[in-house]
Amino acid sequence: MTLLWDADPSATDRYDFAVGQVTRVDTQAAMVRALEDAPQEQLVLIGPEVDMESACQFTEFARVERPEVGVLLLRRRLDVNVLGQALRSGVREVVTADDLTGLADAARRSRELTSRVSGHTVDSSAGTRSARVVTVFSAKGGVGKTTFATNLSTYLASTGSKVLLIDLDLAFGDVGISLQMLPQNSIIDLVSMAGHIDEQAIKSVVTRHESGLDTVSAPSEPSDADRIPGSIVAELIRVAKRHYDYVLLDTPPAFTSHVLAAFDDSDVLVLIATLDIPAVKNLRLTLDTLDLLGNDKDTRLIVLNRSDAKVGLRAEDVVAALKQDIAVMVPNSAAVPASVNRGVPIILDEPKHPVSVALRDLAERFLRAPEPASSTDASGKSTDGQGGRSGRWSFSRGGK
Ligand SMILES: Nc1ncnc2c1ncn2[C@@H]1O[C@H](COP(=O)(O)OP(=O)(O)OP(=O)(O)O)[C@@H](O)[C@H]1O
Ligand SMILES: [Mg+2]
Repeated sequence: MTLLWDADPSATDRYDFAVGQVTRVDTQAAMVRALEDAPQEQLVLIGPEVDMESACQFTEFARVERPEVGVLLLRRRLDVNVLGQALRSGVREVVTADDLTGLADAARRSRELTSRVSGHTVDSSAGTRSARVVTVFSAKGGVGKTTFATNLSTYLASTGSKVLLIDLDLAFGDVGISLQMLPQNSIIDLVSMAGHIDEQAIKSVVTRHESGLDTVSAPSEPSDADRIPGSIVAELIRVAKRHYDYVLLDTPPAFTSHVLAAFDDSDVLVLIATLDIPAVKNLRLTLDTLDLLGNDKDTRLIVLNRSDAKVGLRAEDVVAALKQDIAVMVPNSAAVPASVNRGVPIILDEPKHPVSVALRDLAERFLRAPEPASSTDASGKSTDGQGGRSGRWSFSRGGK
């Protein structure tokens, strides 16, 4: 984000476009306070109507108090006197007020300089974390993507990990409603910050769930989905990785540009199958598409949801059709929709329920570490004494 000192309320919209989200103040005192309140801030704009003396006075103050902060000065006209005075006080660049492209370039240069002089202290925890990115996907609707994404992420958050769940079902996302949250912001608010998304920007759009989970919601207006470029998703994931232990993505049942961006950056793809022919056919096509996209096979995890539904198709049939092992099986239970209607993930509400046991198994064995944990034996059976029902057994091609 960027602090703007300008008395004109309409200035925010004008400069938002060039430098990302802007917070405006209208006096020098307010600017000093705003800077004190924002230890992560890296860029200050001083509007064209602020007199030179006050602008230089503030810049000298910022140079001493917060040397990593870049001050850019906007003027209606540039002349040698203004330039000399500004640069002597420590202004990084002077830009004409109507040159928004020049302003965007100057802001980028200033941020780069800030990163170099502060050794990346701007993004204070940058590099300290490297989240595992997990995308939950199925090309068929209604198979349990949101159920899995919300349960897995709230579980991981409840164990003390720093977790971000991003709702990529941009038109009809229901992460918010499933977790009984009322998001004030959504991913659409990041669009104006393209190229400048940082930890503060992410914080400004997340909604916190009581489990400690952070969520980035889908827009409330389905039509807004078209205004979100895939590049925003890629940038959001890239930055979020540095600040979270896990980044999970719920998806729509389609290969949108947003989903492709998520695939690109995922360590694990949780691909959901159910015991019906269309779901299996779509999953087969998904695997073929992932092959075409050059996706690493090792990232894929097939999970069979509603695995005990008596519908004539068996888990072995799914394994044979997919030519791929099933990692975890999650049983069918009316307790799942009941938990969604209560707005409390079943994994937190009924931890001993077979569905919760299976999902926890998925989280612990496959999301927490790249290799299966030693608490499972070679056949995938748990040895932790929590009971062998539900997703404890896994079907493999060799094990038929
Ligand atoms: N194991 C299960 N047992 C019983 N019901 C389940 C199970 N898993 C999911 N459901 C129910 O199936 C329905 C669809 O689940 P969910 O919304 O998670 O699917 P989705 O793949 O996200 O759907 P969409 O593609 O529409 O976003 C919900 O009512 C959910 O409660
Ligand atoms: Mg869904």
